Amino acid sequence: MKIGNLELDGAVFMAPMAGITDPPFRRVVQEFGVSALWTEMINSHAVVKARKVLPTMNTANHRVPVIFQVIGKDPAILAECARIVQGLGAAAIDINMGCPARQVVGSGGGAALMCNPDLVKQVVSEVRSAVSIPLTVKMRAGWDEKRLNAPEIAGIVETEGADAIVVHGRSRSAAHSGPVSLELIGQVCQTVSIPVIGNGGVMDIEKAVSMFQETGCQGVMLGRGVLGRPWFPRKILESVFGFPVYNSVACLGGIVRSHFEDQLSCSGVLQGIRRMRKHLGWYSRGFAGAAEFRSTVFTENDPEQVLASINNFFGKVAVP
Ligand SMILES: Cc1cc2nc3c(=O)[nH]c(=O)nc-3n(C[C@H](O)[C@H](O)[C@H](O)COP(=O)(O)O)c2cc1C
Repeated sequence: MKIGNLELDGAVFMAPMAGITDPPFRRVVQEFGVSALWTEMINSHAVVKARKVLPTMNTANHRVPVIFQVIGKDPAILAECARIVQGLGAAAIDINMGCPARQVVGSGGGAALMCNPDLVKQVVSEVRSAVSIPLTVKMRAGWDEKRLNAPEIAGIVETEGADAIVVHGRSRSAAHSGPVSLELIGQVCQTVSIPVIGNGGVMDIEKAVSMFQETGCQGVMLGRGVLGRPWFPRKILESVFGFPVYNSVACLGGIVRSHFEDQLSCSGVLQGIRRMRKHLGWYSRGFAGAAEFRSTVFTENDPEQVLASINNFFGKVAVP
């Protein structure tokens, strides 16, 4: 698959997820066949006005292209932010038109942009002019069930020069739950000729297959389906695209241990332990003794003790 002049191997992507897709997590996921990784959303105002450099902007040891997602509503500030992050190693820029958070939409950014097609036009046009790297837009199905205008917004985005579109097939009012409209994603695919990446609810191989088959999308973006099982993208490549079955020698303990060590070295010991807790919860899901493991590691601040619990709990469990 190609996004602008960015040649990608495969068509399975890791979604941007605030508080989750930081550099240590991205370095774990890149081992399992994703074609590109998204940063967490980057507040354009903070980067441009407060000159903030956020940890998520670090692309050290990334072997897979990293697409920087910017959020805001001011076209000039978004454009300036895009220019800055282009200089930091972004493989492409993505504009967030899907965040449902009250404080974000309250200030006119994220999914609220979809209510203002004129502003969408201006935003995409200014960001397009500011950077030479590919540009994508991640949007919702629409604001709410009465305003499912993703096809209209997609048309504008394409006309203004975007190279690909990601559609999360839920409206802003549905937030992160409820059915995903494959029909609407399909309508976006029919409307534009740039690649469309379908997103939402892809938690297993069957859902990945129906995302491709029922929408006609060219790529699939995975969010919560990857949490605790970073090998999920690889499983899709094997089942849907016929990639050779990956005979992993990795054990889950090895993955968790290197994620933990990387997190601590990036975020510092205390902050790293705190950031790892949710991942340890996801990694341990479904295993016997998970509740006890979680109650230990969720309250432990000594890195040696957490590591000992990880070694003890995951032992030599093989990656499925
Ligand atoms: C905790 C969390 C954080 C998220 N952060 C972002 C974000 O920073 N930018 C964005 O475009 N979407 C964000 N999303 C939405 C996801 O990228 C994705 O669109 C959504 O989770 C639907 O995919 P899924 O059903 O496969 O999880 C976030 C979702 C979750 C659950």
